[in-house]
Amino acid sequence: MAENPLDQIAAEHRLQERLCDALETIADSIAAAMPEGRVDPALVQGVLIPLRDDIAAHNRIEQDMLFSLLEKRARPGDDMAELLAGLALEQATDECFVDEILGGLETLARGERVPNPATLAAQIRCCIENQRRHLAWEARVLLPLARERLTTEDLDTLARYMLKKGDEARQ
Ligand SMILES: [Fe+2]
Repeated sequence: MAENPLDQIAAEHRLQERLCDALETIADSIAAAMPEGRVDPALVQGVLIPLRDDIAAHNRIEQDMLFSLLEKRARPGDDMAELLAGLALEQATDECFVDEILGGLETLARGERVPNPATLAAQIRCCIENQRRHLAWEARVLLPLARERLTTEDLDTLARYMLKKGDEARQ
């Protein structure tokens, strides 16, 4: 496998960082357009698919394959299981925040008004904060640990799993 799958995961994290930046622009636009909270639909349309599909798919790959490979490479005193359980919880929280804001964003993307734009802007900011915290944690702890511990065979297993999931998603 030519590409290190951890580089691909890191690239997806950079896309998620850009998604957070786009969400921040939307929250700022809602706040600037109060009390109507109406924003340019084009600004919102671009975040819907990444929010609805890409984050959950990315998290499933990490939880279902990357975490289990790392668990196999745990060493005494690592607290690996605790680390990974904490991250899985952060990811579940991210997905709950995404579920909370998706309906409102879909309404804005159709050019319609949401009933409570201030609440939606606050929920978007909570979503961004959690996502950025979790991305920083993955960059600081998860990926360095994976680069240190995973064997060539593990990386090949991960790469093949990611290809398979990508193919399934495109069908
Ligand atoms: Fe991730």
